[in-house]
Amino acid sequence: MSDLDDWLGRVYEARSTAESQRIYDDWAESYDADVSSGGYNYAPLAAGLFGRHVAPGDTPVLDAGCGSGFIGATLACLGYANLVGIDLSEGMLRVAARKGVYRDLRQRTLGEPLDFDDGTFRAIVCTGVFTPGHAPPGALDELIRVTASAGVLVFCCTEAALSEGGFKAKIDALTDAGLWTLIDTTRPVTALPRATVRHDATFFVYRR
Ligand SMILES: C[S@@+](CC[C@H](N)C(=O)[O-])C[C@H]1O[C@@H](n2cnc3c(N)ncnc32)[C@H](O)[C@@H]1O
Repeated sequence: MSDLDDWLGRVYEARSTAESQRIYDDWAESYDADVSSGGYNYAPLAAGLFGRHVAPGDTPVLDAGCGSGFIGATLACLGYANLVGIDLSEGMLRVAARKGVYRDLRQRTLGEPLDFDDGTFRAIVCTGVFTPGHAPPGALDELIRVTASAGVLVFCCTEAALSEGGFKAKIDALTDAGLWTLIDTTRPVTALPRATVRHDATFFVYRR
């Protein structure tokens, strides 16, 4: 089994936020190399969706569960210059800080109240976080709250999170409550096509 498969097995089986935090702290230094070896394709997908729906420049963008800054680094190359990142893992945040692409990085837990004012961000990006052993569906409430009116949320959910994890029910409830509208989506994609542990995920873009 590769290092990547080993790490994936551990993060998907995390049974608590504290356990997940510990695993990502330990993984942080080799995360970029490991997921790159697995063909991690969320950065081009998130970048493509941002290109369709979010103007670059000073637009305030929250990278929720930014991890090592893998997605933020790509968005920064495309001219998104006002990135804020939050993540559970201090270790991952240290790696993200070294990339020098975030205006602000904070250790925060998705699923708990966030210390940002209502409507702070014009766009949210959240990749690799709505999957078993990671953030709960309730995290979407706070992400919507901190998104500006007419702002967009670009995120992906694994198939397991959508079905057994309760994300589909939560997404539908937010739609029924009139809190957002689906404006774009992808076909299911295999996040890490060269890993043994394979998870298909779908990207969604919702407008607040
Ligand atoms: C697979 S990584 C994805 C990181 C980055 N978004 C990317 O695509 O490379 C998952 C990240 O979610 C973070 N995470 C897991 N549960 C979280 C939670 N409840 N709140 C905040 N971050 C969380 C982990 O610390 C880890 O950095």
